[in-house]
Amino acid sequence: MKAIAVIPGKKNSVHLKEVPKPKVSDIPGGRGVLVKVLKVALDGTDRDIDKGEYGNAPAGDDYLIIGHESFGIVEEVGPNVKDLRKGDYVVATVRRPGKGFYDSLGMQDLTSDDVYYERGINLLHGYFTEYYVEQPEYLVVVPDEFKDLGVMTEPVSIVTKAYEHTIDIQRRMGIWRPKKVAVIGAGPLGMLAAWKFRLERLETHVFSLEEKPNMKADLLEEIGANYHSTKHTPVEKGAKEFGPFDIVFEASGYAPMVIDAAHAVAKNGVVILSSVTPKEMKAEIPVSQINMDFVLGNKIMFGTVNASYHHFVLSVRDIGFGMHLYTGWMDKMITHEVAGLENYEKAMYLLNNAAKEKALKIVIKVAEA
Ligand code: BGC
Ligand code: ZN
Repeated sequence: MKAIAVIPGKKNSVHLKEVPKPKVSDIPGGRGVLVKVLKVALDGTDRDIDKGEYGNAPAGDDYLIIGHESFGIVEEVGPNVKDLRKGDYVVATVRRPGKGFYDSLGMQDLTSDDVYYERGINLLHGYFTEYYVEQPEYLVVVPDEFKDLGVMTEPVSIVTKAYEHTIDIQRRMGIWRPKKVAVIGAGPLGMLAAWKFRLERLETHVFSLEEKPNMKADLLEEIGANYHSTKHTPVEKGAKEFGPFDIVFEASGYAPMVIDAAHAVAKNGVVILSSVTPKEMKAEIPVSQINMDFVLGNKIMFGTVNASYHHFVLSVRDIGFGMHLYTGWMDKMITHEVAGLENYEKAMYLLNNAAKEKALKIVIKVAEA
């Protein structure tokens, strides 16, 4: 069967590869689930992997099948799979357990191991292929009615986890009522963060480079979020004008924005860092000012990565809620659907030229249900 693979560490190595079709029996104990892949979406991580800056091949292989934002349909289950059946739509989680304590609890998104295993990213093959097999505990069911948006579950799960952790962290306050939030970056993750904050009824300000009018600003205004171009309103200026912000969600993929985020957060507020920035970069920081602000303002900055099964389940629910509150909105985030794995070059082109091509979420449609 076909798969899209890279040679990790090698720039622009993405290629089509013939690999053996997996079998339900590849997973011992009759617990295998064979999933036919229907759609897989791309994101900045795939771009970093294609640049040779991120990702590793599984032990014993010199290639990595990419793709971590999956959606598929169960084709066959092993005799000891009770909870899934042929015809169920499913999304697979990304991270698999290592050796640590949290991993043993199914919380590998919080692993304290040095090594982490992520399908399509690090040390495990991903979903850009025709079929994969998985254990049922890594497969999240998507109701048939949500099938057009199932492929958005994984990126939503990143935002769901970040928000849940924010609320957990803020239990320190006893009572905390966030009102205003800022999102830095209007890539797919920033857009989804804004969507989540609007579902939570928060006043939402998104900061991104591009000037208005543009598609992302229009989409954000549709759900009542505000868009500011950093060309006219840098984050710090925006914080003076519209903030300070109880939550600042950094999703620009541009590491120096950490400093802007630190300047924009309110007293008792929280900065969420979610950008994966593998490329070496340095910046000058007004370190005593940031330290003073954080100390005297009881501020918090935390990092978040990946998501657990629980967050995936919550994300499916939120997608359903969003389908009713902002009908048709998330569908518009999927700006490009490329049909067929063999057309991966077109999808990668769109990913690497997203601004020029007005691409937000790019999906490869692998097969019909
Ligand atoms: C993925 C996460 C993953 C992270 C770091 C993101 O693009 O969506 O699941 O944990 O990259 O590898
Ligand atoms: Zn991702």
